[in-house]
Amino acid sequence: MTLSEFQQLVTTLADDGAKLIDQATTASSLEEARTSLLGRKSGRLPDLFKQLPSLAPGELREAGSLINAVKAKLEAALEDRRRQLDAASSSKRNVDLTMPARRQWLGSKHPVTLVIEEIEDIFRELGFTIALGPEAETEWYNFTALNFPADHPALDLHDTLYLGENVMLRTHTSPVQIRTMQKFKPPIRILSPGNAYRRDFFDASHAPMFAQIEGLAIDEGVSFVDLKATLTHFANRFFGTTKTRFRPSYFPFTEPSAEMDVECQLCHGSGCPSCKGTGWMEILGAGMVHPSVLNAAGLDGDRYTGWAFGMGPARIAMLRYDIPDIRILYDSDVRFLYQVSG
Ligand code: DAH
Repeated sequence: MTLSEFQQLVTTLADDGAKLIDQATTASSLEEARTSLLGRKSGRLPDLFKQLPSLAPGELREAGSLINAVKAKLEAALEDRRRQLDAASSSKRNVDLTMPARRQWLGSKHPVTLVIEEIEDIFRELGFTIALGPEAETEWYNFTALNFPADHPALDLHDTLYLGENVMLRTHTSPVQIRTMQKFKPPIRILSPGNAYRRDFFDASHAPMFAQIEGLAIDEGVSFVDLKATLTHFANRFFGTTKTRFRPSYFPFTEPSAEMDVECQLCHGSGCPSCKGTGWMEILGAGMVHPSVLNAAGLDGDRYTGWAFGMGPARIAMLRYDIPDIRILYDSDVRFLYQVSG
């Protein structure tokens, strides 16, 4: 073979090879191209190498460097093409630039938790500490020591979730008053948040499990004036300066007893569906601790006096965040939680 014939074959191979590599659109067609060009058994380039001995010895050098250059060029082109195909297929697999970014969900505090924490902060400033009690209570702590008569309807199976004889899920946080007075000597100022349970239907304003916050202040010479002043201060701190009023009420464990209303936070007193047209919203029950309750807890009812209150933070959260139905608070719908606590 003459040098120019050899050069011709090598140039044709280089052109064909470049086209073949370019046309390969999958990893397997690229591999076929590689085998047909460089494959040791029947590849076109190795075949050409085999032709070298048929050239004149003086032409070998030039022919050799030519074919080696083409070999290097084909190998580089194959490698380039392989990279392109890899990148294309991996971008198909993993990166869809039109896909919306995934949102990182962060937790947020429940509105009832926010309300409890805010109330705790206000009372902590007034020297109250936090006291907790068990959710499973005995009849004595939940009712008897709190001066409920034995035939009070609250003791009925109908209203109370009993866990066994004499043991029930507490129907309010008031038993913590008794436990605290048994353990600590006055002066006592505690706030007790926690869950309470009742056999209620789950409707827009009742839930069978609900949070309560109990407050208790006991010392010598404590009067209804302290109750009124403290709870009025609380309402003004919590809602911003607002009107309040106390109405007479009845609880077995307080005498006298009252309920406190704040001006409706939605209509500011003019009357709206949320306050049933009254312009007021009830936020808590309170009263002077009944001497029988002090005595049951082991305190001298002649020496000490005190006041107590109980409120439902869910109700207050509904007022604060304008939530129409208590069940929303139990849905665990994060979109709602985000709306409230950002
Ligand atoms: N325990 C009452 C209830 O569950 C709320 C309450 C009212 C608590 C008056 C008190 C109080 O401490 O003085 O409805």
